[in-house]
Amino acid sequence: MSDYILAKQNGRTIPSEDKIFGISSRAKAMIAKEGADKVINATIGSLLDDEGKLVVLSSVVEAVKKLAPADFADYAPIGGTPGFREAVKKAAFGSFQPKTFTEAVSTPGGTGAIRNTISNYSRPGDKILTSDWYWAPYGTIAGELGRSIETYRMFDEKGAFDIVSFSAKVKELVLAQKSLVIILNTPAHNPTGYSLSDQNWDQVLDVLRQESAGAGSIVLLVDAAYIDFAGDEEECRRFFPKLEQLPPNVLPIVAYSLSKTYTLYGTRCGAMICMAQTEAIADEFRRVCEFSSRGSWSNSAKLAQVVLTRVYEDESLLEQVTQERAEFREMLLRRGRAFEEEAERVGLEIVPFDAGFFVSIPCEKPDVISRKLEAEGLFIVPLAKGLRVSVASVSEEACRKIPAMVKKAME
Ligand SMILES: Cc1ncc(COP(=O)(O)O)c(C=O)c1O
Repeated sequence: MSDYILAKQNGRTIPSEDKIFGISSRAKAMIAKEGADKVINATIGSLLDDEGKLVVLSSVVEAVKKLAPADFADYAPIGGTPGFREAVKKAAFGSFQPKTFTEAVSTPGGTGAIRNTISNYSRPGDKILTSDWYWAPYGTIAGELGRSIETYRMFDEKGAFDIVSFSAKVKELVLAQKSLVIILNTPAHNPTGYSLSDQNWDQVLDVLRQESAGAGSIVLLVDAAYIDFAGDEEECRRFFPKLEQLPPNVLPIVAYSLSKTYTLYGTRCGAMICMAQTEAIADEFRRVCEFSSRGSWSNSAKLAQVVLTRVYEDESLLEQVTQERAEFREMLLRRGRAFEEEAERVGLEIVPFDAGFFVSIPCEKPDVISRKLEAEGLFIVPLAKGLRVSVASVSEEACRKIPAMVKKAME
């Protein structure tokens, strides 16, 4: 019998408590009991400073303080303010100016872009393709829309991006469904920290060029939530021009989020940006996505849209934001490198890592190991295929301690 009272289960498995939230509250309880110095809480998906406080870019705070009431109290147009629609393309692409037909539609965070892409470019019952290490909400979003997630193996035995598995899955799903939505979270993938190399990109796009010949449509959703924390801001955008060289029935959509990049997590701001080969495909993108937004969250919050517009209107403000973010990015990259070095030193295997908020450790019994570590004061997140450590939320010193603790717990 279902344990639902009035709500309908609709085929979903809904836990009584969010897993990460549960672990985080156990960490807080231990801090209250034993003191903060006894606990490392590496579960949180926001960038925290070494004292555990949320990093908020002061240049962004200054821009927020200068807003007039109508800048945040008023409705924004469904697809975003005109200024935001232009500014967010610059934020996403950097100095690169796509030659494709490029439309941006505002969304509540990157999450909204993922939701709208799945709802508009796949059909009920379809499978959405992503890697076997993936951000769990992809599954929730797909499930809420009557779709499901199918995975390819992300890494082969040698630890290289598994293009063979990717290619086989694309082929299989295109054959079965005629159309396909693929989610690639890069650079600085959550949960592994992996970024596709230029060579990986060339291989991926070759597969799409080949498989699209018999397909209705293939949509490549590039979830770029961590793009500004992945290393050099220009370097990690080097793949964008490659997305211009695709047939018209392959549509790249970039999911850009202001949550991490502008430290505006709570303002729920992001955008979906298409790189279409024809004007008609770009117009359709805008029309269907705005329609879908109307039927889910309606318009997105205006506050961060205005902030981003101001940042791109004011060169010195943009310079300040870029500079400040670069300093915090360096802090994050140092933590990741410290973790990697220590893991190597103590012989702890980790999933190939480049940059970003998280590092993953493959392991057989993630739930058992993470419970064991909680007793030692280390809180991390067990996933289906291993353990996820948020280097974004702990100090470099803690990053140096964690690998040995995990290694010991696994013995
Ligand atoms: C992989 C990934 N994609 C997208 C997002 C989008 O987040 P938001 O909706 O806050 O922009 C996140 C946030 O944690 C994420 O980890």
